[in-house]
Amino acid sequence: MAISKEQVLQALKKVKDPELHKSLVDLGMIQDIEIAGDAVRVTVALTMAGCPLKDQIKRDVKEAVGGIPGIKEVRVVLTTMTSEQRAKIFGREPSEMEGMKKVKHVVAVASGKGGVGKSTVSVNLALALSKKGFNVGILDADMHGPDIPIMLGIKERPVGKGGMLMPLEKYGIKMMSTGTLAGEGTPIVWRGPLVNKAIKEFLGHVDWGSLDFLIVDLPPGTGDAPLTLAQAIPLAGVIIVTTPQKVALSDVRRSIALFNSHDIPVLGIVENMSFFRIPGGDEVVDIFGSGGGDKIAKAFKLPVLAKVPIDPDIRKGGDEGRPVVLDEKSEVTKVFLDMAERVAELADQKNNE
Ligand SMILES: Nc1ncnc2c1ncn2[C@@H]1O[C@H](COP(=O)(O)OP(=O)(O)OP(=O)(O)O)[C@@H](O)[C@H]1O
Ligand SMILES: [Mg+2]
Repeated sequence: MAISKEQVLQALKKVKDPELHKSLVDLGMIQDIEIAGDAVRVTVALTMAGCPLKDQIKRDVKEAVGGIPGIKEVRVVLTTMTSEQRAKIFGREPSEMEGMKKVKHVVAVASGKGGVGKSTVSVNLALALSKKGFNVGILDADMHGPDIPIMLGIKERPVGKGGMLMPLEKYGIKMMSTGTLAGEGTPIVWRGPLVNKAIKEFLGHVDWGSLDFLIVDLPPGTGDAPLTLAQAIPLAGVIIVTTPQKVALSDVRRSIALFNSHDIPVLGIVENMSFFRIPGGDEVVDIFGSGGGDKIAKAFKLPVLAKVPIDPDIRKGGDEGRPVVLDEKSEVTKVFLDMAERVAELADQKNNE
């Protein structure tokens, strides 16, 4: 006997949205049902891009429809609701960037190339600002390799509330990762206008509450990805992380040019892996050469905000989910606290310009 749409709808009536506790059918989340022989394709519209419950919803739909006798294959396609559809469910639609309305300064951390310590600087700067008494959030906007949750030792997934995404909290700061936009084990290809739309929507729906600083770990490179994000968020400015080698510096020049050409202010430069102090002594070794950051800073009239040494505790802190800046005794902690002070001053200046 042929399977009817009605049968599929009946099965789907039993599937509830885990947050809203109403059936997907009643919520208007079932956008389309296609039946071809013993195969069914269901299109589900999520209430928001990056809905943290999407994997569960997908599983529940598969299970419910797969349970209908005679059905051999179920495919679930996920899309997101339009603003009007969402407004119907939540009574109102959050306006663009609503979740960021009470965020005073957004500071992005960028780098011309990967692996120079961008995420390390982001996370330690965020915690240093928090130690100085500011309310701080960190956004992991590096969709290609979201490392911030690992560096903070966060394993939970965020939850939704009233159509907004709630950031997670650790060590006194709030955290949200664009990794949430992807599904479990889904490889993501970030290209094209759809991505812009998804990112903007995602950013607008994170409920940060009142923050003095939101630190954004941008994707590396001088291509579309960091620029798209930097333009989507109302930024106080960008901090560029580099290592001191000559090759790294040419990337920094390109980064600065990129942001400048789009009127995004560059606050300053961080020279990471700047030097290595021989343990137990005062002797310092310039492993990657020296003075690169200073040269760039001078050429572009930008301040060097910090020179961060190579320190095994930095890597260890990142791997173990307990950033080095939480350690009072580390030499690096002082470097990041000083940096936090300079960043706070610069952000205030930008606001008063
Ligand atoms: N100053 C430092 N001393 C010792 N290890 C460091 C230092 N800075 C970063 N590392 C380590 O180097 C590795 C790369 O750093 P990180 O992940 O912060 O770089 P990234 O620029 O964010 O990289 P990606 O482009 O992959 O996102 C990490 O293992 C980190 O712990
Ligand atoms: Mg990183």
